[in-house]
Amino acid sequence: MISLTNTMTKTIKNICCIGAGYVGGPTMAVIAQKCPEIKVHVVDINESRVAAWNDPNVEHIPIYEPGLSEIVAETRDRNLFFSTKVDEAIDQADIIFISVNTPTKTYGIGKGMAADLKFIELCARQIARVAKTDKIIVEKSTLPVRTAEALKDILHNTGNGVNFQILSNPEFLAEGTAIDDLLDPDRILIGGDTHTAEGQAAMQTLVDVYAHWVPKAQILTTNVWSSELSKLTANAFLAQRISSINAMSEICEKTGANVDEVARAIGMDSRIGSKFLKSSVGFGGSCFQKDILNLVYISKSLGLQEVADYWEQVIILNDHQKLRFAKNIVKTLYNTVSGKQIAMLGWAFKKDTNDTRESAAIYVSDYLLSEQADVIVYDPKVKTEQIYADLEYLGHHDSETIRQRVKVVKTAKEACQNAHAIAVMTEWDEFKSLDWKSIYDDMYKPAFVFDGRRILDQTSMEALGFNVNIIGN
Ligand SMILES: NC(=O)c1ccc[n+]([C@@H]2O[C@H](COP(=O)([O-])OP(=O)(O)OC[C@H]3O[C@@H](n4cnc5c(N)ncnc54)[C@H](O)[C@@H]3O)[C@@H](O)[C@H]2O)c1
Repeated sequence: MISLTNTMTKTIKNICCIGAGYVGGPTMAVIAQKCPEIKVHVVDINESRVAAWNDPNVEHIPIYEPGLSEIVAETRDRNLFFSTKVDEAIDQADIIFISVNTPTKTYGIGKGMAADLKFIELCARQIARVAKTDKIIVEKSTLPVRTAEALKDILHNTGNGVNFQILSNPEFLAEGTAIDDLLDPDRILIGGDTHTAEGQAAMQTLVDVYAHWVPKAQILTTNVWSSELSKLTANAFLAQRISSINAMSEICEKTGANVDEVARAIGMDSRIGSKFLKSSVGFGGSCFQKDILNLVYISKSLGLQEVADYWEQVIILNDHQKLRFAKNIVKTLYNTVSGKQIAMLGWAFKKDTNDTRESAAIYVSDYLLSEQADVIVYDPKVKTEQIYADLEYLGHHDSETIRQRVKVVKTAKEACQNAHAIAVMTEWDEFKSLDWKSIYDDMYKPAFVFDGRRILDQTSMEALGFNVNIIGN
């Protein structure tokens, strides 16, 4: 790691964060809580999202994360502000975090693989246009390695004499545990221009912000390219572990082995470790797939075909896991689900978040709709319109069909009433303690349950009469 020698840091009074999403909102709320002397302005062009962040009832803020509402209640309008006034916030800021979305490109060169950097570029151009004083620009979004160079190009060609230092500070929080992850991070990574005194001073300035609550030993400083690449690498390794255990789950199903027993046995090997070995219906979320596709694209662009193929397999296996789960439902229900009611328990891509991006539930439901099933969804935190929007986005079924065949209800019990089968799609804690006996009584018989999260106990569910299919058993 780089040791910073230049300590001529700047006193930070104002921070601006462009992007009030799953990263920008929680991250800035924690910075505001831990640095009460700094004013933190989170700005976004999405007016309804900003309005929701400013909702007087903090339970209505747009992002659900355990512990987030409490921090927003403490800091909002004290030193944390949400607004759509992007220019104003840029103008006042000493440090500007760019935390906008970087989705997979859906058009042109790199379509379906490369990260779409148009939102990042728009931010850079806006900063270049507005800034009148020197600023530290922090890449918080996950970006392809060497994006900082493009940002530098745009910012340094403004001709207005403003000096910009560009840092990479990728975010490693996991949704569902974002606040714990932010309050007690495994590490903070800051990449910058290590060769110049100005670069080192900028890095030290950002180190000082985090040092309000993170032990210095956990704040790593590197060159900017290592920092950018580390984030893609971390997500690739995490997703690879899930695909690895999911690949074993299929072998378990065919051989009588139990994937949790295998995970436990290998996890006790300290070289392997026990975390992230939970088999499921496949990973979702906005990051893993997009970041690996981006890594595949970068590898291909560098002429590294074997490297690209290696990482692409993680995605192929994940898609396979979702598809085989959906196909197994149809096969088990005597090869037809037409006109049958399937209850989907959970829609979020994991528990304790309302984020549904790339959730397996979307793909499984889409498949079941193609097989003419009626799908009844219950999720404790996801809004009805989001569920319809997710299915419409795939473009396989028209809006009318979706609204006819998919119903969203307010309780798990309601979803399961008169169902032929239940699919557990999200591991929400409440699903473990449902009154499964009365749910069984209300279902068509034989009553099937497909557990894509391994939260149900096979023996006790079978004792109630269920026909139980657990992924990896
Ligand atoms: N979600 C995660 O768990 C997570 C974790 C680590 C890193 N990341 C990365 O962080 C970045 C942001 O992710 P997210 O989940 O917060 O995305 P998000 O879609 O929830 O939020 C992004 C926000 O940026 C806003 N925005 C886009 N362009 C803008 C502009 N020009 N001016 C102002 N606002 C603009 C959008 O309106 C949106 O509200 C991505 O690069 C992602 O890969 C995400």
